[in-house]
Amino acid sequence: MADTIPPPVVGEILGDFSATKRRKPEPTSIVIFGATGDLAGRKLAPALYNIMLDGGLSDPTMIIGVSRGDQTAQKFAAELRPKVEQFSRQKVDPAKWDKFASMLDFVGGEFNDDKTYLALKEKLEAAKAKGTRGNRVFYLSTPPSVFALILEKLHQHKLIECAVQRPGVPACRVIVEKPFGRDLASARALNEMIGGYLDESQIYRIDHYLGKETVQNILVLRFGNSIFEPLWNRNHVEYVEITAAEDIGIEGRGAFYEQTGVVRDIIQNHLLQVMALVTMEVPASFKADDIRDEKSQVLRSVRELTLNDVANFAVRGQYRGYREENGVAPNSQVPTYAAIRFMIDSWRWQGVPFYLRAGKKLAERLTEVNIHFRAVPLVLFKEEAAGSVLQPAVLTLRIQPKEGISLRFVAKVPGEHIQVGNVMMTMNYADAFNRPISEAYERLLLDCMRGDATLFNRRDSVDRAWELIQPVLQVWEATPGVHIYEPGTGGPPSADEMMGREGHSWRELQRQPSGQG
Ligand code: BG6
Repeated sequence: MADTIPPPVVGEILGDFSATKRRKPEPTSIVIFGATGDLAGRKLAPALYNIMLDGGLSDPTMIIGVSRGDQTAQKFAAELRPKVEQFSRQKVDPAKWDKFASMLDFVGGEFNDDKTYLALKEKLEAAKAKGTRGNRVFYLSTPPSVFALILEKLHQHKLIECAVQRPGVPACRVIVEKPFGRDLASARALNEMIGGYLDESQIYRIDHYLGKETVQNILVLRFGNSIFEPLWNRNHVEYVEITAAEDIGIEGRGAFYEQTGVVRDIIQNHLLQVMALVTMEVPASFKADDIRDEKSQVLRSVRELTLNDVANFAVRGQYRGYREENGVAPNSQVPTYAAIRFMIDSWRWQGVPFYLRAGKKLAERLTEVNIHFRAVPLVLFKEEAAGSVLQPAVLTLRIQPKEGISLRFVAKVPGEHIQVGNVMMTMNYADAFNRPISEAYERLLLDCMRGDATLFNRRDSVDRAWELIQPVLQVWEATPGVHIYEPGTGGPPSADEMMGREGHSWRELQRQPSGQG
């Protein structure tokens, strides 16, 4: 008999329940507006390159960049290459790169100039002749201020048409980058405008958090195991924290960040979406609208914040040094950190606080959900200090880095005394299935090409998320009062006080030894 616990085995794959059955997308033309911008270089091109390496693209797939300037396809490829080398998950191989470069094309011109669209039309027709069958995905990787202009021109030149997407007809889809509006009114106006040109089934509102493996795993963990759901409610959960901490600052995006701030940048979209997945009811199936219906439903049950709530349960911070960044006003009140408490008025969650926090230049890069379970009744552990020693169990869903799940619980320390200690049981994603974890943008671009909108945001949930943060924006933009915090810390102490008043505390952020993270 073995005298040690056997080493962990690679997870066994049980089945594929995805609605699209992981089929390859149709041959498609992908048109990227803003192709020389930061997102295209850091995320989109590396994602498409990796999809190609993994054999995920059908032949032919064309990637047409549209941007100012008069580049050639070759120059466009040459400019993208160092960026892909820097940001790609897999190494750039010269022969594979040549194949990728042969898929690239470029249209240089202003977004308001008809010539740009005439040139694009020619390229799309050439791609169709090569075999893309008229399938098109347009990626609006531009400031939202030009979305309307681009759609109007695409419509005028008959490059898009309003049509319910279904198999057998050429696909025409548009991916819209965040920020999707800057408040409730502008998001509604944007939705109206886009809805004037396209059917909802053609609109892919991207939130890259939804493409992250561990975010998708939330539903599988909850609904694929019978042990969690019975505990997943107000009877057993004391509170939930959702953190998106970054150790980097605004990375030269001063002008953008001054218009955005952390609430619009992270909380309105990424964190409220994660909260929706953690709190939604079981969907009827993994189909896009079944999941999106449930997410929408739970967001509708989130209690709207009153002005009083904003004063008591929302904290804003700004890292010291932000005001010296390029493009930032010397007296800027824009928050780079926010912590907000939400309550959900539903049968399942009544009375359970959900604390969301996000910030830049914090001690570490960490995105995770911590479900804090209720404390045990202290009948067996009667010592005076038992309450502070016996820490309730916490289930952690680690979204990044070191993706995985862990459970902290109490166990007996070996020995003759009933001494207790905290222990951790951890599942590490990368080891568990012995498979590389693909980047969120890879998954989302592929899904859009396949016509699967499950991981994209529907109009109703975008609207609702704006409604929920609107009071915070209103109060904070009308009254100065941002707390300055030191870079490399856990954020402003007032966020700890907010939690502390309710007897709760944040998971501590810890500075990582350099080279880790
Ligand atoms: C983006 C924000 O949506 O998400 C950035 O605009 C932020 O400010 C980024 O840095 C974080 O994404 P990730 O995937 O690195 O957690």
